[in-house]
Amino acid sequence: MMGKEHIRNLQLIDGASVTAIADPDSAMQAENKALAPHARLCNTLDELLAANDIDALLIASPNFQHAEQLLSILQRTKLPILVEKPICTQFDDVQLLVDAFEQHPSPVWVAMEYRYMPPVQKFREALSNGVTGKLQMLSIIEHRFPFLEKVDDWNRFNRFSGGTLVEKCCHYFDLMRLLIPSEPCRVFASGAADHNHQTERYEGEVPDIIDNAYAIVDFTGGQRAMLELCMFAEGSRYQESIVALGPKAKVVCDIPGPTRFWPDNLGAAPEPRLTISPRHPAGPIETFIPVDKELLEAGDHNGSTFFQHQLFFAAVAEHIAQPVGQSSTTKTRSETSSQTKLTDPLSALNRGVEVSALDGLRAVVLGMAAQHSIATGQAVELSSNGLSFER
Ligand SMILES: NC(=O)c1ccc[n+]([C@@H]2O[C@H](COP(=O)([O-])OP(=O)(O)OC[C@H]3O[C@@H](n4cnc5c(N)ncnc54)[C@H](O)[C@@H]3O)[C@@H](O)[C@H]2O)c1
Repeated sequence: MMGKEHIRNLQLIDGASVTAIADPDSAMQAENKALAPHARLCNTLDELLAANDIDALLIASPNFQHAEQLLSILQRTKLPILVEKPICTQFDDVQLLVDAFEQHPSPVWVAMEYRYMPPVQKFREALSNGVTGKLQMLSIIEHRFPFLEKVDDWNRFNRFSGGTLVEKCCHYFDLMRLLIPSEPCRVFASGAADHNHQTERYEGEVPDIIDNAYAIVDFTGGQRAMLELCMFAEGSRYQESIVALGPKAKVVCDIPGPTRFWPDNLGAAPEPRLTISPRHPAGPIETFIPVDKELLEAGDHNGSTFFQHQLFFAAVAEHIAQPVGQSSTTKTRSETSSQTKLTDPLSALNRGVEVSALDGLRAVVLGMAAQHSIATGQAVELSSNGLSFER
């Protein structure tokens, strides 16, 4: 699903082309061929890497394969990489990946599409302009449809997906880190598999997908964030609502789910909406943020995959023109943004990209800590570098 969304969006990027695709599934290969008829089709990663016709790699395989594939690619090539979230699913892979990235001379970008949704960009702009005053509280509500079916059902079990709070909620933990100008230090979560997939059996096993949860996250700067997840709520008008509160105002960003899921009988699909509610003078100011129709049709994520590819393409082009490490002056937007709010001893790993491997790992570690909190019923303290937690 996501691989095809990437192919469709890459085809909209001037100067980019899909040269080769590796996928072991023959039905998926046929779909890939229909989408990208000129691409070299391969069964394995080895076959893909055997030819010298690639400038950058994109990984959109099942979650549990990301770490192993990354470690293998990092050993064998110096190519820039865009890897789908979550960057890994096992805690033991976190440090292995940090060590491997340290040796890799090219950009590694983790796909965090939510950052690039037009309404989220506007929301971020409002916060940067100080609309709320000091940001004190941030809540992210996701009310959506159950997990879709995947090739070989890899998303039915935590051991393959990493668990719901890693699998999909790493997007939201990434947004919390992006929007709040300090780092997470503690998480308490409660959740369970209560309604979805309970009648399904895979070799006799019942899926263990958490379908509803709350997670509360404390930040070192005194801010607090909360995630509310419900995966039996596809009847909602908006799929996500992000709410920021500070002493001056409340700002809400409402984001619709995939347009293709909006019922035809209800008319036009809802448009993303930003609502700013100052305290003085009181009263909400609503702005709708339409997304280009062609971009909506190219994916399920409000056009964000396209905008992310534009930026990844620019990072790759810049890297080819001037390899990372040879430029000491060029700063990307992320290096000047709140994202690098720590004096981070590992920041060299950012390699000039907006969503670095470290960002991807920190979002996953926060998700793993939240899953651990659910399992133990205890709040979990995070390490100061955000790459580990008390277990
Ligand atoms: N960023 C987002 O918003 C977003 C949304 C959906 C999915 N994703 C991520 O994209 C990835 C793929 O998810 P999906 O929904 O497309 O799943 P999917 O099951 O639809 O697709 C996975 C594809 O990987 C192929 N595959 C399996 N083993 C492989 C291997 N060894 N080498 C190459 N390909 C292999 C499968 O045949 C299949 O075509 C996951 O990591 C998922 O978390 C991200």
